[in-house]
Amino acid sequence: MQFSLLAPTFLFAQVLGQTYGHPGVDHAWVPAGPGDFRGPCPMMNTLANHGFLQRDGRNITRENAVNALKDGLNFNPTLANIMFDQAIIANPEPNASYFTLDHLNKHNLLEHDASLSRSDAYFGNNHVFNQTVFDETRSWWEGPVLTADMLANSKVARQLSSKAFNPTYVFTLVTEEFSLGEVVAPVIAFGDTDAITVNRTLVEYFFENERLPTELGWTRREEVVSLDTIHHATDTIRNATRLYTDPKSSLSKRKSSRNPHFG
Ligand code: HEM
Ligand SMILES: *[C@@H]1O[C@H](CO)[C@@H](O)[C@H](O)[C@H]1NC(C)=O
Ligand SMILES: *[C@@H]1O[C@H](CO)[C@@H](O)[C@H](O)[C@H]1NC(C)=O
Ligand SMILES: *[C@@H]1O[C@H](CO)[C@@H](O)[C@H](O)[C@H]1NC(C)=O
Ligand SMILES: *[C@@H]1O[C@H](CO)[C@@H](O)[C@H](O)[C@H]1NC(C)=O
Ligand SMILES: *[C@@H]1O[C@H](CO)[C@@H](O)[C@H](O)[C@H]1NC(C)=O
Repeated sequence: MQFSLLAPTFLFAQVLGQTYGHPGVDHAWVPAGPGDFRGPCPMMNTLANHGFLQRDGRNITRENAVNALKDGLNFNPTLANIMFDQAIIANPEPNASYFTLDHLNKHNLLEHDASLSRSDAYFGNNHVFNQTVFDETRSWWEGPVLTADMLANSKVARQLSSKAFNPTYVFTLVTEEFSLGEVVAPVIAFGDTDAITVNRTLVEYFFENERLPTELGWTRREEVVSLDTIHHATDTIRNATRLYTDPKSSLSKRKSSRNPHFG
């Protein structure tokens, strides 16, 4: 009876998609066409695919970014302004007032090695979705609900494989802070920001399609996302990246029986 539940949700979501955000703006999903810019951020690409950002991926001003993060994801303006401040260095012009999505592609500025869904620049294209890389990432997502441990494991595993096999591997402490935010970003957008969990199906759909998972029943969260929300989330992932445990913790507590890596 899946259809009787999903079909009305889908239709309702389609209607909502047309009405939240700025009046008169069409938020239908349309992938990038020739001449449109996209970059290494699956969410910025997604927001452009839905018209929350300019569909051509160009000339993203502070106002554009703040509105898109509010209308698409319910980020508060303080948080969105901080994110814009961190991103504007991507435009090489002095005192730039906008950046474009292809500015974000510059290797080792904001874009970095060991991404979840992009190749290291050393091995190939550093900004388009790469299924091989994403399959490596999600092989660590061992259940239908992603936890902080699973997300952290995939992050550490990607770093380990880059560190081992990419002779140009760079990953600074500044990268680490961005990386923690990126790894937990799907929880912020689609999951439970207290428990730090998210439905794996929604996350895979988002990465693979660069599309908001509206047709899977997702709607924009009602609670505003603040810097505190992000700090709680990144701290939880940071803790989960530790490879030591306390003496009482034991692997037998873990529910997973699936081990795609070691038999
Ligand atoms: C001003 C806003 C934003 C900018 C400029 C931005 C920029 C970037 C950049 C440059 C990367 C590439 C890092 C890498 O090499 O892996 C990235 C990755 C990522 N971003 Fe964003 N981002 C923004 C907002 C968001 C938001 C709001 C979300 C979701 C809530 C998000 C989700 C992600 C994810 C999941 C990745 C990791 C992709 C991967 O590892 O393959 N971003 N972002
Ligand atoms: C928009 O961005 C392009 C670079 O992609 C730049 O050449 C152009 O001047 C910008 N236009 C405005 C109105 O800022
Ligand atoms: C950049 O902005 C600063 C402060 O507003 C100003 O002093 C400086 O002259 C500007 N530089 C350029 C190249 O426009
Ligand atoms: C995808 O990533 C793999 C592993 O880094 C790489 O070998 C392959 O060339 C990449 N594909 C593209 C199209 O960049
Ligand atoms: C995750 O979302 C999908 C699509 O809405 C749904 O079918 C599935 O039951 C959800 N999984 C869990 C564990 O809630
Ligand atoms: C992370 O670990 C530290 C030290 O064990 C702990 O004090 C802190 O509360 C933890 N943070 C979160 C968000 O779990």
